[in-house]
Amino acid sequence: MLSHGAALLCALLAPFGAVNAAPQIGLPIPKGYSGEAQKLANPTYGPIPGESNVYNYYWGTDRPFPGNITDPIFPSETGPPGADDALWQDLLAAGWLMFEFYQQGVERFTEREFVKADMPKHTYRRIQEIRNNAAGHIRIFQNQISPTSIKPGPCKYAFPFKDPVSFLALLTILEISSMTSLTGLVQQPVLGASKSALLAIAEVEARHEAWALMDLWDEDPFGGPSETLFPYANEILESTATFIVPGSCPKENPEFPQRHALHGKKKLPPLAAAKDTESLIPGSVVTFEFPDPKNQPSFLTSKRIKTQYYAVFFHGALTVNIPIDTSAWPKKRIRVMVPEAFETKGVVVVVISDRPDAETRDSLVTGPAILLQQPRGLEQVLWHPGKE
Ligand SMILES: *[C@@H]1O[C@H](CO)[C@@H](O)[C@H](O)[C@H]1NC(C)=O
Repeated sequence: MLSHGAALLCALLAPFGAVNAAPQIGLPIPKGYSGEAQKLANPTYGPIPGESNVYNYYWGTDRPFPGNITDPIFPSETGPPGADDALWQDLLAAGWLMFEFYQQGVERFTEREFVKADMPKHTYRRIQEIRNNAAGHIRIFQNQISPTSIKPGPCKYAFPFKDPVSFLALLTILEISSMTSLTGLVQQPVLGASKSALLAIAEVEARHEAWALMDLWDEDPFGGPSETLFPYANEILESTATFIVPGSCPKENPEFPQRHALHGKKKLPPLAAAKDTESLIPGSVVTFEFPDPKNQPSFLTSKRIKTQYYAVFFHGALTVNIPIDTSAWPKKRIRVMVPEAFETKGVVVVVISDRPDAETRDSLVTGPAILLQQPRGLEQVLWHPGKE
């Protein structure tokens, strides 16, 4: 009798052998997770964005909800994934990166340190408020992913700031990068409601950026009549992945960014202006390098077939192609002038392509480099912190 009961119990438990005993909603979760994060599978659990001021006016240094619950949220229902799940998983991974950036700033600096760096007294509070908005983005993105897909958790991140000013410089670059990537990401959703949700997030990033330009850098807050349209949004997400400490992500997370149909299978060689660049403004001749020694571009050079390569510059709604000479390759760098015709506003995005206008993702030879026009010279603050 006893052994019969034990066998039945074993049979019942067998399919769930790798499962934790902790409370959970819906389906079993992998071993090693407490199950705490599974409560977040319910979109009404915890403070709700749009209702709760935790996403606005929380002035603590501790990680606010849902940033204090860092396990992935495992699927709570079985079935096919939602139409836009992969996109929202990418957005959630990017949202974690932004949240962690601001959270690190909140933990690392004080109100006084920003004042000592000649920034307004309320700078620290604004950083906290943007951190809170970023926590709200995480919650919104978690809720956009359907219950049949995993909602990724955060990784560890290493950001190259050394002091308050280089932190604020990176903030300005990250905000404008997310605005630019969102102009391309809105092409991807299947559902119209997802497109509206992306636009709503882009508008929040634009407010953050306008605040930074006006209040931190004493600049004109506007960036010209159109933000830069760049179609290959995942390539910008890919460039932010350099801040992720390798191997630090939950192993169940999907790859970031995911290589779905709109993103090529091949990881493109990164492109960046050389560190000794004096100026990135229109009309400057800039040396571009390929900073990843393990992922260098290859240019076809043969006497018989000559492939023409272009530096393709995107600014506002414009695209400008500048033919480049790659015959002397490999010299590991390319010199090219930022189109003189561009206004000194917003950002310029540049890629190397073998097709004018970089018409298809397959025509990209490198990933994008982002050349910030406002405030002028901010990249130098990051490259050479402490130097005026
Ligand atoms: C997370 O933070 C919220 C407040 O923002 C708090 O109510 C909750 O108990 C915290 N959860 C954990 C697991 O620390």
